Amino acid sequence: MEVNIQRLKETDSTNKYLVEQLSREYLPDFSVITTDFQSSGRGQRGNSWESERGKNLLFSVLLRPESVPARSQFLISQIASLAIKEGLDRFAAGFSIKWPNDIYWNEQKICGMLIENDLAGAMLSQSILGIGVNINQNLFISNAPNPVSLKTITGNHQDREVILADILRILATYYDLLRKGETELINRRYHHSLFRKEGYYLFADKNGRFSARIVGVEPDGELILSTETNEKRGYLFKEVQFVL
Ligand code: BTN
Repeated sequence: MEVNIQRLKETDSTNKYLVEQLSREYLPDFSVITTDFQSSGRGQRGNSWESERGKNLLFSVLLRPESVPARSQFLISQIASLAIKEGLDRFAAGFSIKWPNDIYWNEQKICGMLIENDLAGAMLSQSILGIGVNINQNLFISNAPNPVSLKTITGNHQDREVILADILRILATYYDLLRKGETELINRRYHHSLFRKEGYYLFADKNGRFSARIVGVEPDGELILSTETNEKRGYLFKEVQFVL
């Protein structure tokens, strides 16, 4: 996969930059924008994304998968999560994918993702994967509940470029699998890598807290839980949270 990388010293948000660039010109599949600093990095739920200048990985990848049905768009989250988790695995044990697409190290968050999908009829036409991975930041000042960086985990400064190249290489491999229709394999690996995939834990939904175990994740991304009384419950994004 040929990777077209644009490197910026600073921008408001790599996702926003990519969207704006796409409104002016065509960019090929697997175009990447990366920056040292975002003046208004976006997180999930309207939050901002904290990242000290020059310390972390901040990038967005454009995918134009062509053969992914809209109802299977969660596969994009799955391959992105797997690529980052596997890119980090060589540094330490304990990385996992917290449904739907945060990357955790033990009980702490090392990476967040903001995925913006565009549909054309029943198909996914374009996907922008916005990824922030904490690499060398020592201290987090925002109210993010439980951030951690690779430097804190390993005790050493790490080379951001090497990690980015690794993640993109792994992502390209998964992207190939996706386009070849190997969705079973992607699903299996995703499930295998899930945070709290075994045992009962506390979750919270609109009715309050309850204890449940993860049964699985449906192709549309729905998380299926089973309570201690064997009641099955399905949740879409943002309808349920892990109690940490
Ligand atoms: C989250 O809240 O967990 C999602 C964070 C996503 C952050 C990344 S950093 C690169 C890209 N540009 C943005 O503005 N956000 C994403």
